Formats: sequence, structure tokens, C-alpha cells
Amino acid sequence: MTLKNDQYILGIETSCDETAVAIVKNGKEIIANVVASQIESHKRFGGVVPEIASRHHVEQVTIVLEEAFTQANLTIDDIDAIAVTEGPGLVGALLIGVNAAKALALCHNKPLVGVHHIAGHIYANQFVTEMTFPLLALVVSGGHTELIYMKEHASFDVIGETLDDAAGEAYDKVARTLNLPYPGGPHIDRLAHEGEATINLPRAWLGEGSFNFSFSGLKSAVINTLHNAEQRGETIDPKNLAASFQASVIEVLVKKTYDAAQQYNVKQVLLAGGVAANKGLRAALTDAFQNSDIELVIPPLSLCTDNAAMIASVGTVLYNKGVRGDMTMNGQPGLDL
Ligand code: KG4
Ligand code: ZN
Repeated sequence: MTLKNDQYILGIETSCDETAVAIVKNGKEIIANVVASQIESHKRFGGVVPEIASRHHVEQVTIVLEEAFTQANLTIDDIDAIAVTEGPGLVGALLIGVNAAKALALCHNKPLVGVHHIAGHIYANQFVTEMTFPLLALVVSGGHTELIYMKEHASFDVIGETLDDAAGEAYDKVARTLNLPYPGGPHIDRLAHEGEATINLPRAWLGEGSFNFSFSGLKSAVINTLHNAEQRGETIDPKNLAASFQASVIEVLVKKTYDAAQQYNVKQVLLAGGVAANKGLRAALTDAFQNSDIELVIPPLSLCTDNAAMIASVGTVLYNKGVRGDMTMNGQPGLDL
């Protein structure tokens, strides 16, 4: 038996290579959080293969749904609304989650709420503490690098974004050059802590006052450094190269986030996305905001990479604002925030 005044939102996330279902109580409490990762299946290809991702989602989605209800000890009757990632992401992958959500909503007469994946990453912070507006979110994932200003709930103003590669993408590409397994971010992070930033690599500031990012020049510089050394018959310590690459990424991310937080006079800074799991970034941001009035919020590691609790968290806010999806909902690979 559940109390009527408690609100339970079911979240479904299938935008990339994790099939995830979660149940969140009253927007704050995670009752179930199940993530089936496909990383092992994509590893040998060095990245996510969309066809394989879709097939895994089809196989996994009902199993993961059942597991979430078992974990929560609830049934679909207890659920107030179904929130699902509508986009952005791989279209074939998104469609599996969207169709599962639509089928559940239709069969059980439940409200449906479409969620933007990046909004989800930001709202993972709601499980740490209450959001205080205005705030600034630094979103760093495999597909996105953005500084987002929020004056209130569900209001997203992108004040800076990457002009080329996302931070996570740069990590994964550099890792690949160093023959590290996919996804490379955690491996570079580990190596970086064992090495020293002895190699001079560029920082893309993109002009005074710009909150945009660029990582493709840095990625090329890493590749050139390796190739040039190879041609000269020298070897470069991958630990030092990883440390130098990470130092460049972190310096730019932290400085731009700090400057934007000051300029926009925010009360909170939220870190979000898969790269938020980076130990160096977490430590450098903590240092930067240590003596400031701005509260820095960093999600626990388990909520940094893709999960459905974050989708249910935004879903709760949108549902309570009256946002509703219908049976025309579709996977939208290029959905704007
Ligand atoms: O948010 P996410 O799970 O998926 C997307 O929405 O893209 O982010 C995945 C990205 C990958 O590029 C992965 O290499 C990166 O997050 N990542 C990291 C770390 N852990 C995951 N990058 C740097 N350091 C880490 N510790
Ligand atoms: Zn993500």
C-alpha cells in the first residue's frame, strides 16, 4: 500500500547505450534505479554502434522495467506519470524507450511526459540538494559541452557551447589514440592521476568573454605530439600525455564556468553529464568555488552517467507544471533544450 499523497514518477532512458528505468518518489527520493549497460557489446568497435544499441534496448527494456518495479515493490497502478527521454540521442535507440512509455501510458491510462536528455543530466543534482535559482549548469557529456543558465525550473538558456567536439568525445578520441578501451574518459582520468602535465598543449579560450568551447584543436595536438615523437623514434609516457590533456580540458572548463557564474550572478553551479565523473574536474571545480558565496553541487558518480532517475526527476517537475505528451510522441535525435 502506498499513501495517496506521495507522487511516483516512472522514468525511462534509452538515448544511447544504457537501457535505464527508475522510479522516483516526490521528485527527490530514488525508489528504484536500474541501468543495463551495453558497454561490453560496443567496446570491440571502439564506440557505440547504433544498430546494436537499438537491438539491445529492445531486448532489455521490459526486463529492466520489471526489475525497477520489483526493486520499488510497486506496480504500474502506483505510478502517477511516465517520463521518457524524447531526445537528443540515437533515433533508433530513443524510439525503443518512447514506444515502451507510450505503450504503458496507453494500456494503463497514465499521463506521458517527454524529457530532454540534457535537462535530465542537470536534474540529477536534485537528488543532492534543492536547486536554488538563478543557477548555472556545466554540462559535460559524450555528446554535449554546454554552460546553461536557469532562472527557474525547466527554463534553459544556453550561454556557451562547444563549436566542435564535446568534452567526452575528446576524451574518447584521445583514449583511442592511446589504445585505451571505450569509453576512454575514465581511463584517461586514471592515467592522468598517475602522470604529470609535462607536455605543453593548447587551451582554446576563443576570445575574451566567450563561454563557448572547442576541443578538436586540443585533440589534434595530442595526436600530433604522439606522431611526431613516433617519427623521431622517441616514446612519450601516456600517463604524462593523459595528465597534460586533462589539465588543458579542466583549466578551460573551470575558468569559463567560474567567469560565467560571476557574470550571471548565480547562486548555484551544478555539474552534469558523464564527464562530471572526472576526478580531476570535480577537484578543480571544488577548489575554484571553495571561497565563493556560490554553492557548487556535484552529483554522486552513479548519477553522472546515463540513468533514468534523472529523467524521472525532470519528469516530476514537468508533470507538475502540466506538461503532457501524447501518442504522436517520437524519438527526436536533434531535440533542442
Ligand atoms: O552522459 P554520458 O553517460 O552519455 C552521454 O549523454 O553522452 O557521458 C558519457 C561520456 C563518455 O564520453 C565518457 O568517456 C565520459 O562521459 N566519462 C568520463 C569519465 N567518466 C565518463 N570522462 C572523463 N573522465 C571520467 N572519469
Ligand atoms: Zn547522457
